Amino acid sequence: MQPTTKQHSQTVKAQLTEFSIRRPDDWHLHLRDGAALDHVVGATAKQFHRAIVMPNLKPPVTTTDMAVAYRDRILTAVKKSNAGSFEPLMVLYLTGATTPAEIEKAAKSGVVKAVKLYPAGATTNSEAGVSDLLGQCSDALEAMQKHDLPLLVHGEVTDSDVDVFDREAVFIDRVMKPLRARFPGLRVVFEHITTKQAAEFVRDEVTRDSSGRLLLGATLTPQHLLYNRNSLFNGGLQPHWYCLPILKREEHRVALLEAAVSGLPQFFLGTDSAPHAKHLKEMACGCAGCYSAPYAMEMYAEAFELAGALDTPEKLELFASLNGPAFYGLAPNEGRITLRRQSQTIPANLPFLTDSGIVPFRAGEELAWSMVDSD
Ligand code: DOR
Ligand code: ZN
Repeated sequence: MQPTTKQHSQTVKAQLTEFSIRRPDDWHLHLRDGAALDHVVGATAKQFHRAIVMPNLKPPVTTTDMAVAYRDRILTAVKKSNAGSFEPLMVLYLTGATTPAEIEKAAKSGVVKAVKLYPAGATTNSEAGVSDLLGQCSDALEAMQKHDLPLLVHGEVTDSDVDVFDREAVFIDRVMKPLRARFPGLRVVFEHITTKQAAEFVRDEVTRDSSGRLLLGATLTPQHLLYNRNSLFNGGLQPHWYCLPILKREEHRVALLEAAVSGLPQFFLGTDSAPHAKHLKEMACGCAGCYSAPYAMEMYAEAFELAGALDTPEKLELFASLNGPAFYGLAPNEGRITLRRQSQTIPANLPFLTDSGIVPFRAGEELAWSMVDSD
């Protein structure tokens, strides 16, 4: 079990024993494809009604036709899982070859909700990504601004001379600020933010379009709200705490948690649940990604409670169920979920592809909350 942070040891004030909120959505998720998709999609569908599905497959989802076909495969997998209703919201993978015509087609499809920037070499399956955003993709960005298709940003520079723990902060100055100056009407989500600098940038850069919608938002993962970088080295190397962008110092975790519980409309839930088989995490050169989907809402409830923000569930509902739809111009879900203060232990392993299975994030740990109902 990972050590507690200072906040973990604070006296818990809230006495809430059960609460229900509108059914939440996951605004940043990896579902993979084929048999892997079959194994993981049910876990998300039990917790969330919709998810923004990342396009970093092999080959990447670079066209509207590919996104439509991938969506069909996801819906087939959902049916097989018997997990109930789930709506995948699709994303195109931005490359230097993405054309304005493809952007227009995507925007008009009703299926594609955003375009994802992977800086080349930044993370899993990012080889086809972009090395010079404004140099390579200006026409596509112009079209996205015109057709109101948001850009989702993996916000890290990849220059080898920049320390891995500084890559997000450097990205703000080198890429994010020039991007926003050049395309002030482009809607941008700074995905899975991990630093105080990113949290402050998104908090303070409040701009809106003519209909009052925010132009800049950010998603936050459970691991970055609950853990700092010590967790990577707790008694030895901990591969299941390794994700990208990597966990940062405690001061950053505190700033991220403050942003999440602030109720501010620009911050919303995105698990970045990223499944990799056990043997591919526990190896020399293991893969980046935490498989948090099966217990995501329980972990977010824990984070909010540790921040003293769960006396009532309104703040969690804003973060998990209301701010995201408002940013994307969608209605919030009608259904509800109920969480009860009822402990449960995260299994050591879950079925996934081969016999090695998959190790869920925080395997073996006890959670204080359990999701007991969802409709
Ligand atoms: O840790 C991560 N895993 N970060 C990413 O950006 C990609 C993801 C994956 O696809 O495994
Ligand atoms: Zn991701």
